[in-house]
Amino acid sequence: MTTLTSTSSLGLHEIERADPPAKRLKLSEQDEVRPLLVSNSCFTWFFLQKVAELEEDSRIYEYTSAANPNMSQVPVFAHDASLHESGPTRIIPFDLSRHMQIDYPASSPNLIASFIRINPNEDIQTEAVATSQAFYIIRGSGRTVTEDGEITWSRGDLFVIPAFDTPATHYATEDTAIYWVHDQPLLTYLGVQPNKRRFKTTLFRRERLLAEVERIKHQPGAEHRNRMGILLGNKITEDSTKTLTHTLWSLLNILPPGDAQRPHRHNSVALDLCVFAESGDKIYTLMGPELDEQGWVKNPIKCLWKTGACFTTPPGWWHSHHNESDKPAWVLPMQDAGLYTYQRTLDIRFSEEPNSSKESKEL
Ligand SMILES: [Fe+2]
Repeated sequence: MTTLTSTSSLGLHEIERADPPAKRLKLSEQDEVRPLLVSNSCFTWFFLQKVAELEEDSRIYEYTSAANPNMSQVPVFAHDASLHESGPTRIIPFDLSRHMQIDYPASSPNLIASFIRINPNEDIQTEAVATSQAFYIIRGSGRTVTEDGEITWSRGDLFVIPAFDTPATHYATEDTAIYWVHDQPLLTYLGVQPNKRRFKTTLFRRERLLAEVERIKHQPGAEHRNRMGILLGNKITEDSTKTLTHTLWSLLNILPPGDAQRPHRHNSVALDLCVFAESGDKIYTLMGPELDEQGWVKNPIKCLWKTGACFTTPPGWWHSHHNESDKPAWVLPMQDAGLYTYQRTLDIRFSEEPNSSKESKEL
């Protein structure tokens, strides 16, 4: 042992001289040390294995070739009304997951729409790991029991329920079809479960919806609007997104006879339910990714409206609604636009007449 009285007075030579000479190990002591050396090399090996394991899933891409990856697009498909017009009581999902290379049921990356068919005096349970579930009564009447209590409903009513731990049970008193949309695909993608109810069960009665449509139809300047419809809101989004829930967005939209709404686009995906359209081929939506020189959809896909059917509109696609019949048509789009509005990325735009100052107008 070296005892230092002053660091300045002790040189290297003095330290060497002061330390005891290195002890030479006896054979028995060498045996005790060897396992320690083995343990140390094992530790190093395990450490390197762990590093290799941590690096295993990492990927590095050249920026310009990978910044806009080739993702499967949201397809244009319709879910026909005939699916819910006959057969046993059941849920009929509008599952487009394989077209989007998603490995769980989905109609769009964030949402799934389904028809619920319930025969008279029968019931069915629905359950979703979702923050928001919307139910629109296409036809029929009955009641739904949830953790929040009981809701009675009939044709044209709409209600939303928050995250519940237990299923909702729907009892029908007559032949019933319900349009059911929720955000379980979004939560599945995130790998999460809701831990909070963000709103309380909220009901919109048909009579009130129709009365509001009548009111806005008679407002000054209504005839010049691009849309004749009412947005469905909720107290919890009143000071922010003004949407049905914090994720879902919905609009009850009337398309007057002879009307052709100029195209618009948005980054949310629309899952449009046709509430009513005169049968035939006179009521339709034209959609596509580009506008022509006149501000209409270029080389569009034509999607006919059929009462009780729904169809998708891909994100960012221009779309225009047309009614060449002599009766009003009604559509109820459900979208993930609550999310987009919150993220400030909805980017809804309306095409204008070619002689206007701007080709498209930001809302
Ligand atoms: Fe739209």
